[in-house]
Amino acid sequence: MRPIIAPSVLASDFANLQSEVEMLNKSQADWLHIDIMDGRFVPNISFGFPVMEAIKKHAQKPMDVHLMIVEPELYIERFRAAGADTISVHIEACNHLHRTIQQIKATGAKAGVAVNPHTSVSLLEDVIEDLDLVCLMSVNPGFGGQKFIHNTYRKIEALKNLIISRNSNALIEVDGGVNEQNAPLLLEKGADVLVAGNFVFSAADPIQTIANLKNSTK
Ligand code: DX5
Ligand code: ZN
Repeated sequence: MRPIIAPSVLASDFANLQSEVEMLNKSQADWLHIDIMDGRFVPNISFGFPVMEAIKKHAQKPMDVHLMIVEPELYIERFRAAGADTISVHIEACNHLHRTIQQIKATGAKAGVAVNPHTSVSLLEDVIEDLDLVCLMSVNPGFGGQKFIHNTYRKIEALKNLIISRNSNALIEVDGGVNEQNAPLLLEKGADVLVAGNFVFSAADPIQTIANLKNSTK
């Protein structure tokens, strides 16, 4: 099956957000990946509700919202109202992850959990059946344009085994440093969703670059 491609709007030209979103509408992108950073969970601040709502106004594709914030449970309903179709919270930011997953589902959004490079996927053992998505961070979150961490391949394999053994429907998303070179092996290991920021938006032809990622083969 062809991968789901989720370009990260973080790497787009914020001064021309409407045309960037329209470009994604025309492209083979499947989702828009929306990175929310609070300056506390990660050492960077991206954007919040008003910008998300502005994106939503033009987006013709689902919004995949990646919350890199502490206490995400305080804002789940507002992110849903601002247009999130999938909401992923970080396992490292949740004291009551099970409850937060149920809270996301109660809004009607799909529920995802993101894990940092140092976090073992085995920690998802007791929630994997409830998840629609697991976002494996292949860089330390906080910034676009970083170098891909190789250990991610091993984590995809471990997560895939967990998903199969528990009969879970969770999709495996890989986020950070994804490009045309590493995409084939990511897919071979079991990735379903590829997030790409800089690789797409700094390309001479983003539409073609998205098509190339979409056509990556195992
Ligand atoms: C990193 C973000 C990523 C980032 C990906 O904290 O979660 O989604 O925007 O950007 P690239 O593809 O440039 O690494
Ligand atoms: Zn992200």
